Amino acid sequence: MRILLINGPNLNLLGTRQPEVYGHDTLDDIVAKVQSRARELAAEVTAMQSNHEGAIIDFIQQHQAAADGMIINPGAFGHYSYAIRDAIAGSSLTTVEVHISNVHAREHFRERSMLSGVCKGVIVGLGWRGYLYALDLLVESAKEGE
Ligand code: DQA
Repeated sequence: MRILLINGPNLNLLGTRQPEVYGHDTLDDIVAKVQSRARELAAEVTAMQSNHEGAIIDFIQQHQAAADGMIINPGAFGHYSYAIRDAIAGSSLTTVEVHISNVHAREHFRERSMLSGVCKGVIVGLGWRGYLYALDLLVESAKEGE
């Protein structure tokens, strides 16, 4: 099975960006951990990062037909992008929204997500492990036919 892994704006700076909030792993480190877990699960992960809303939407549209599920950390786009919400809903892919930090323990504006309502579930505040939990969930639920 094939899983899309999308990271939105500023997540390319993981490792140096507010490490007290987001940890010390770079995005490459995290993608490598997800890829390694995917190999154990006999899944394939196609990863992308972009700072541009339209590029994320284009990526979803281009890959949705060949994918079985999606993990997305939309970064700040999650708080206001109706367009990414529509792209997720339109893809019909089972999607897990991931936030590295606990968005409910930070600024008020981070508590609201435009995407959660079209996702199967949301993982917040569990650091890089959130991506692995999302992958486990997607593979398990696909096997169970959920
Ligand atoms: C984030 C949380 C967002 O509020 C923030 O804009 C990010 C990262 C997270 O992973 O915790 O860029 O999505």
